[in-house]
Formats: sequence, C-alpha cells, structure tokens
Amino acid sequence: MNIACYVIEATERLRSVGIENPGLDAEVIIANCLNLERYQLVTWRDRVLSSEEISLIEKKIKRRLKKEPVAYIIGKKEFYGLDFLVTKDVLIPRPETELLVDMAIYWSPLNARVVDLCTGSGAIAIALKYTRSDLDVFASDISQKALKIAKKNCENLLGKNKISFLAGNLFEPLQSEKFDVIVSNPPYVDYSLKGTLQKELDFEPEIALYAEDKGQAVIKQIIENSRKYLNKNGILLLEIGSDQRDFTETYGKKKGFDVSILNDYSGLPRVATLRL
Ligand SMILES: C[S@@+](CC[C@H](N)C(=O)[O-])C[C@H]1O[C@@H](n2cnc3c(N)ncnc32)[C@H](O)[C@@H]1O
Repeated sequence: MNIACYVIEATERLRSVGIENPGLDAEVIIANCLNLERYQLVTWRDRVLSSEEISLIEKKIKRRLKKEPVAYIIGKKEFYGLDFLVTKDVLIPRPETELLVDMAIYWSPLNARVVDLCTGSGAIAIALKYTRSDLDVFASDISQKALKIAKKNCENLLGKNKISFLAGNLFEPLQSEKFDVIVSNPPYVDYSLKGTLQKELDFEPEIALYAEDKGQAVIKQIIENSRKYLNKNGILLLEIGSDQRDFTETYGKKKGFDVSILNDYSGLPRVATLRL
C-alpha cells in the first residue's frame, strides 16, 4: 500500500470511532512513524510502505483508536513554538495556556524572579525563560516523574541549569524565597467529573487534572499562600477553568488582591491576574 492510500484508510478508521480530527491525527502519526514532515506525505504520496513501516504505523493507529492522545503516541507536543517531550507522567500542554505565558512575559519586570508552580512538563517555565532570558526562573511540582521530564525539556530547549527545579507540595519547596511573579496552571477540574469527560483525559495523570472542592482546592491554596512568597507589587497569574471566574474573583478579593480575569481566544475566562 502507498502512503496516500494508507492515510485515507487510517483516517476512515479513526473517523469511525468518533475521533474529532481523524485526517490530522492520521497524518501526524504516519509522518512521525516515517520520520517525515506532514507536508512530505503529499510529496511522497506514491511511495509504497514496507511491512515494517506498516506494522509500526498500525501499532500507533491502534493506540489512537483506543483514544490515547496523539501527543503521547508520538512523544511530543508543540507549545509556544517549542517541541516539548511528553510522557504519561505529564499533562499535555494546551494551546490556551500560551495566554498565561503571554501574561507572565507582560507582567515580569526586567530581571524579575518568577516561579512556575505545578510545572508538569516545564512548558510555562521553559517558554518564559526562552522568551525572556533576563528572568530568574524557578519551577516546582509535587511529581518527581514530571520534574524529570521538565528537566529534560529544559536541557533540550535551553541548556543545563537555566531553570531551578524544586520538588514538593506547592510552596513548601520554596522555603523563604520571594518572587516578583508567581505563575501557575494548577489542577482545577472537579473530581466528581472524572470519568464523564472525553476519554482522552483518562490517559493523563489524575494529579495534573483534578482537584477537590469542585476543582477549587489547589487554586484556593495558591491564592491563600501567595502573599508570603511575593515581593512588594508582586503578581500572581493563574490559569482557571472556564466556570471559575466568579469564584476566583471573590476568593482573590477576599484575600486582599485586585483581581482581573482575561478570556482566552475562544472567549472563555482563562487567566486570572491577582495583584497585591
Ligand atoms: C494542569 S498540570 C500543569 C502542567 C503544566 N504547567 C502545563 O501547564 O502544561 C498541573 C501540575 O500540577 C502538579 N501538582 C498537582 N498537585 C500539586 C501540588 N499539591 N503541589 C505541586 N504540584 C502539584 C501535577 O503534578 C501537574 O504536573
């Protein structure tokens, strides 16, 4: 079978199980297996696939048929124009989180100290340091496995020791450090929704997605404790769920912050800016 026929056939199989973008997913998986760019599938459309290539592609298409996210199948995800290594130990960075990076770039003074709490793959911290090399960037996570991936991503994209990585529960590893900006995309999905959302989410780490208290528990802890870790005029930037605007505004104000909420490109509340 040649490449063009295989793309058509795989697309139809993915479509038949309800995959949202079957053509795109088929192309990305096939191109990845053949070490080609996606556009090259057209250039090489008549090339006949070997039986080894077919068996490699089949394995990966079967994983997608079971709804495993493409990023885990190919082992990478683009975020802020950079290729991040991803495994099942980390959340797949989402395009809407790029807005949080934009805001951190905007709000960080020259040579500021910034910490990315709940760093996961390191996407936010690394994109930030990549764009603003003047910043002194720290990143922390409770998951040692996630930190291992974040460190690898840092080494691949920025070089060794460009970011200080710390392990532990939220602020606990920061000890008495102070920052100009705290940025975080914490887990904020309501635990009670687990198992009712897209099947793809079941492949991501539970600890990265879900939080107690209608998804508000970790956000509350961050807002409550930030003041102690912020310098004068410091800023806390949080990604929030699209239904968490009112709660974040009310809770942030109660804890003494000026709060403003920015919508993402789909028009949904996404980034909370909390100023002391
Ligand atoms: C939504 S993911 C964000 C990952 C990454 N920052 C991103 O935006 O793609 C949340 C991350 O928070 C971490 N996490 C969950 N609870 C935590 C806690 N109590 N303290 C520190 N990190 C935590 C998880 O391990 C996960 O990596």
